[in-house]
Amino acid sequence: MRKELLADQTAVVTGASSGIGRAIAGAFGSEGADVVVADIRKQPRKDGEPTHEMIESTSEARGKYVNTDVTDTSDVEAAIDAADEFGGIDIMINNAGVLGPNGPVTEISYQEYRELLDINLDGVFIGAKVAAERLIEQGDGGAIINISSLAGLQGYPNIIPYSTAKAGVRNMTYALAGELGTHGIRVNAIHPGEVETALTTDDMAIIGTEDGEAVKQNIPLEKFAQPEDVANAATFLASEMASHITAESLVVDGGVFNTA
Ligand SMILES: NC(=O)c1ccc[n+]([C@@H]2O[C@H](COP(=O)([O-])OP(=O)(O)OC[C@H]3O[C@@H](n4cnc5c(N)ncnc54)[C@H](O)[C@@H]3O)[C@@H](O)[C@H]2O)c1
Repeated sequence: MRKELLADQTAVVTGASSGIGRAIAGAFGSEGADVVVADIRKQPRKDGEPTHEMIESTSEARGKYVNTDVTDTSDVEAAIDAADEFGGIDIMINNAGVLGPNGPVTEISYQEYRELLDINLDGVFIGAKVAAERLIEQGDGGAIINISSLAGLQGYPNIIPYSTAKAGVRNMTYALAGELGTHGIRVNAIHPGEVETALTTDDMAIIGTEDGEAVKQNIPLEKFAQPEDVANAATFLASEMASHITAESLVVDGGVFNTA
C-alpha cells in the first residue's frame, strides 16, 4: 500500500468549514494528517456535515473544530494549542478570506477597505506569526501555506481591497520563507483562479452566470477549478515531495495567467 503523504502530521487550516479550506482539510485527512478546523462558523456555507466530522467519517484521521476568528491573535493561539492534542502543529494553512467590498474605488469606504485587510492580510500575518513561534519552539521544521489568488499577481479592477491584500500575502510569503528557512520551515503561496465555491457562486456571482460562461472561454482548460484542485496543490506543497520548495507561488488557474 502507498504510504500516505502526510502520515503523522498535524495541520491547522483556517477557513476550513467551507470551500477551498474544507477541501484542503479533507485531502489532508485522506493523506493521514489530523486537522484542526479553525473557522468562525462550524457549518459549511454550502451543504454537508461540519468538516471535522467529514474528516472522521471519510478517513482514519482525527478532526477538531475550534471557533476561530483569524483577526484575533488569542483565537489563533487557541487553534494552534488544539493541535497539541494531535502531537503539535506541523502544517499551517492560512486560507480564511472574504471577497469584501466589490465595486469602483470611489464607492468603497476606507472602513470597508480596512475590514477586508484585517481578514485577508492581517489574518495571514497572525496565522503565520503564531505558527512560526510554535514551529520554532518545537524545533522540527514545518510548512506554512498561504492562500493568495490570481488577484495577488495582477491588479483586478473593482476588487481593489481584495487585490491589495492578496498581493501583500504573496510578498509576505516570500519574506517569511527567507526568514524561516534556517528553522527548516518552508513557506509557499497558492494562487487559485476562479474556484467553484460560495465565494464565486454567491458573493461574486460569477460562476453559474452568463458572464461566468464568457470568463470560462478564456481559460485554456475551459473549466473552473474545483476546491479539490487547490487541495491537491496544497497537499503536494505540505508534503515531503516539496521538501526543497519554499518562497514559491503555485498558480492553479487552468492556464489563464501565463497565456494570451
Ligand atoms: N473561490 C475562489 O475562486 C478563490 C480564488 C482565489 C483565492 N481564493 C481564496 O481562497 C480562500 C478560501 O475561499 P473560498 O472560495 O473557499 O471561500 P468560502 O467563502 O467558500 O470559504 C471561506 C471560509 O472562511 C471562513 N472565514 C471568513 N472569515 C473568517 C475569519 N475572520 N476567521 C476565520 N474564518 C473565516 C468562512 O466562514 C468560510 O468557511 C480565500 O482566502 C479566498 O480569497 C478563492
